[in-house]
Amino acid sequence: MGRIVIVGSLNADLVVQTPRFPRPGETVHGSPLQVLPGGKSSNQAAAAARLGGDVRLVGAVGDDGQGRMLVAAARDAGVDTSSVLTRADVATGTAVITVDEAGENTIVISAGANGTLSPDDVARAASVGGDSQGGDSPFDGAAVLGLCLEVSLETVIAAARAGRDAGALVLTNVSPFAEVGDELLSLTDVVLLNEHEAAELVSGGDVADCAPSDWAVVSRALAGRGVTRAVVTTGAAGCTVLVDGEPPVAVASPRVTAVDTTGCGDAFMGALALRLASGDGLADAARFAVRVASFAATRVGAQSSYPTPEELAAFA
Ligand code: RIB
Ligand code: NA
Repeated sequence: MGRIVIVGSLNADLVVQTPRFPRPGETVHGSPLQVLPGGKSSNQAAAAARLGGDVRLVGAVGDDGQGRMLVAAARDAGVDTSSVLTRADVATGTAVITVDEAGENTIVISAGANGTLSPDDVARAASVGGDSQGGDSPFDGAAVLGLCLEVSLETVIAAARAGRDAGALVLTNVSPFAEVGDELLSLTDVVLLNEHEAAELVSGGDVADCAPSDWAVVSRALAGRGVTRAVVTTGAAGCTVLVDGEPPVAVASPRVTAVDTTGCGDAFMGALALRLASGDGLADAARFAVRVASFAATRVGAQSSYPTPEELAAFA
């Protein structure tokens, strides 16, 4: 199995459950506050590592308790955190999260240290001996590189280029959605996005122009943006695998009662990366990933809800 390197974010998730989301200007009561390890990239890394992957995380935290909590949690999941930098003068990234009775969430992120991760940091990590412990480069021999948009676009592009140079398959999660431009897409081998993000990507933000159910149309439109391989997650329905020139493959998800869907997309991505690093084709990797994401929906939190291989085997 090849190594997975994930470059991006770590967040302390401040989570409160509430029967229903407040309307603007409204106050509602919620559950006791939980502070849980999160951040899309850290979640992706933790998901892959808990399932047995060889995973290195490149990112940045503040020199504070939440930063130490996040590094410890990633390490406990089995992630090599030797390329996670500690910044002196900035807080660890934070996500303020509400979860309603249906397990849906709202998330506001405050980048903190994630916003300081620079193309130079990536270049330093990628050069041999460049990690914070003077060890080897996380990119050396990497089979898969995982990216998302919780760090700056320039940093993501620098990482994608380093991944390409190292011969890794570059897997980019276009989330939180931003118009990324053609450079990142051309450096990406497989794009992962949800149906809203897919609609945005192909229609320039005009969702009405795009029929997400018409996957052949979406697939052609994505190819027009240079995206020839994509996985579109469709919530409880599972996902659709789009390879330009091939029929769309819909992958159904096991039925579960959702408790908290926070980080399910990241669980999906970590699981997808794991299977791609093991040499699976995209559709087979996606079949595994929907099971992992469904499992994650049945428990509270992001990383705190990710399965071991044994737990997954007992689940579905
Ligand atoms: O995708 C879920 C994640 O988004 C949370 O863990 C939160 O930290 C935000 O980054
Ligand atoms: Na969860």
